[in-house]
Amino acid sequence: MSTGGTGETGFERLGPRHVAIIMDGNGRWAARRGLSPSAGHKAGVERIRDLIEACKERHIEVLTLFAFSSENWQRPPKEVELLMTLFHSYLRREARKMREQGVRLRVIGRRDRFSPRLQRAIVEAEELTRDGASGTLVIAADYGGQWDIAQAARALAEEVARGERSVESIDDAALGERVQLADLPPVDLLIRSSGEQRISNFILWQAAYSEFYFTETLWPDFDTQALDEALKAYQRRDRRYGGRSQDGLEAQA
Ligand code: IPE
Ligand code: IPE
Ligand code: MG
Repeated sequence: MSTGGTGETGFERLGPRHVAIIMDGNGRWAARRGLSPSAGHKAGVERIRDLIEACKERHIEVLTLFAFSSENWQRPPKEVELLMTLFHSYLRREARKMREQGVRLRVIGRRDRFSPRLQRAIVEAEELTRDGASGTLVIAADYGGQWDIAQAARALAEEVARGERSVESIDDAALGERVQLADLPPVDLLIRSSGEQRISNFILWQAAYSEFYFTETLWPDFDTQALDEALKAYQRRDRRYGGRSQDGLEAQA
């Protein structure tokens, strides 16, 4: 989350502009302590505040957090209810703080399956933080990568049906403009905590050239040091985008 200028961490030149995180492992963190998943989710939420600040210090412009997948409705009703309550109280409590920090909040996902009260809290938090210029926090809630691509395809189909575009004009660029996050820098680094190595229907389109980083650390233990380890790993990556690295094959040998 950047205002530019020189930083104290040394990450600003090589560092990612956009980091996305699959915040996984709350349930196992709680189970290891003999606690219910709810306790893990509460501990997990506590991590976010420090992380936003750490991202600002490291000149990361956008932080996207996967908070609730379109498949997470399958969890036990009590757990879903707790997650909704936590999301609501998080928005109520933190939006003001984000505004003070100059952080703009955006929520991506379906929304229509949330309660009217939660939908209102989302709109209000986005309104309150809309002028934030030192960074963007994106929360993916009731989000699915397949839904995202489908809604982009539907938007294009509607344009064709209205006679506003031709079928031939539909290509990867046109679809890419209509998926979520299209107006933000590409996701450079995608982190998943808790040791799972899968995408679980998160940003399928947007992760085409993201660097993946998996850590065994469970989400409620994911602190600034864990973030720095991910950033260090990112700096060692050679992003070739299907081409040849600038240093040539010799450097890779
Ligand atoms: C991630 O933690 C949070 C959500 C999916 C909402 P989990 O609850 O999936 O934690 P594990 O995977 O059971 O440990
Ligand atoms: C992905 O985690 C969703 C979030 C972290 C919000 P899950 O725990 O739901 O994913 P699976 O079930 O292990 O694939
Ligand atoms: Mg999980």
